[in-house]
Amino acid sequence: MTTSRLPGFHEHDREGRRKRLVDEAGVDPETLEALDRAPEDAVLEEMSENVLGRLTLPIGVATNVVVDGDDVLVPMATEESSVVAAASHAAKTARPHGGFQAEGGRPEMVAQVHLVDVDVDEAQATVEDHADELVAGLRDPEGSMEKRGGGPRELSTHRHDLPEGDSALSVHLVADVRDAMGANYVNELAERLAPRLEDLTGGRALLRILSNLARRRVVRVEATFDREELGGRDVVEDIVTANRIARADTCRAATHNKGVMNGITAVMLATGNDTRAQEAGAHAWAAREGRYQALTRYEVTEEGHLHGRLEVPVQAGVVGGATSSLPSAQAALELMGEPSGPELARIAASVGMAQNVAALRALVAEGIQEGHMRLHAANLARQAGVGSDQIDDVAERMVEADDVSASAARRFAEDLEG
Ligand code: MEV
Repeated sequence: MTTSRLPGFHEHDREGRRKRLVDEAGVDPETLEALDRAPEDAVLEEMSENVLGRLTLPIGVATNVVVDGDDVLVPMATEESSVVAAASHAAKTARPHGGFQAEGGRPEMVAQVHLVDVDVDEAQATVEDHADELVAGLRDPEGSMEKRGGGPRELSTHRHDLPEGDSALSVHLVADVRDAMGANYVNELAERLAPRLEDLTGGRALLRILSNLARRRVVRVEATFDREELGGRDVVEDIVTANRIARADTCRAATHNKGVMNGITAVMLATGNDTRAQEAGAHAWAAREGRYQALTRYEVTEEGHLHGRLEVPVQAGVVGGATSSLPSAQAALELMGEPSGPELARIAASVGMAQNVAALRALVAEGIQEGHMRLHAANLARQAGVGSDQIDDVAERMVEADDVSASAARRFAEDLEG
């Protein structure tokens, strides 16, 4: 990857965009072909049941993204307009300050076994005494996960007093899942662990399943967004105030975090990852202190720029499941330069932060609807065949006339020509 900085990229038609990616960013044309390739029917039949059709969503590419010093073109699948443009724009405002710095995303998943019908205190002591032996009993050095350096790591116990009076013992098994999302692997470990726990404690293993609150996979992102590019010091200060509101007001925090997830989920979807797992984990993390809060924090730097921090668990994999079977998901990873699982997690979280900054900037400045309308008008103008040098003019006239439609795009384009 030479650069993700492609000025004017959005002004081209699809062929023009592909050409620039090949010529300027060194993307393989085969990757771009595969990004648009539908899966075979057999693949769809394997993925789900009673299959009758397939869902098609646009995959766009976020430009301008730099993560840990590397330019990366980020594929995003979403049904919502403005999301890709917004992420690209906010990423551009972070570029003068080095882009996004991200760390974490260790690929460790937790499997839980819940023991019931048991003396919880006694069971807890017994399981703790046998923790090393229980973990060792799950080892499978010939299995593909351990050959790749992953495998079961450690075990802990947690007592839970249940609402109607009795208690359950939750046994947590941590496993390194390497480049996988890891759900199948840790669920299998939980099922293998359960009978051993039952034998040891005399209890009944009621639930044997992973936890989507993937605390171990938390990614921390930081970035500084340029004051001038955001629209000046007032805008920066208003973004910080908007963030303080989201930290105090749960109703607002949910919407604020939805903006973050507009970025993360779109990257997860484009790469065939489990978006529901991701959403569940992120929102549970947002409520980890007992009150649901904003996932991001912003402050004004001494020079008046916007400095942001985001902490969010990301359950991203680059092997297995739909990621391996969908040609477009494979191509999405190729476009990003074949990241590892943790690298993909850090890229997705960075795009989440970009998305959040873009939404907050629009909200405190012109409001979200105007940006949406302008983008929609520009898309219609492009579809109506308006040349790239006239798109902004035509879009402007459509918005001013409060007529954002295909016929208005054609009419204003003819006016300009005439
Ligand atoms: C819309 O998809 C996302 C926003 O509502 C996020 C936010 O309000 O911060 C604009």
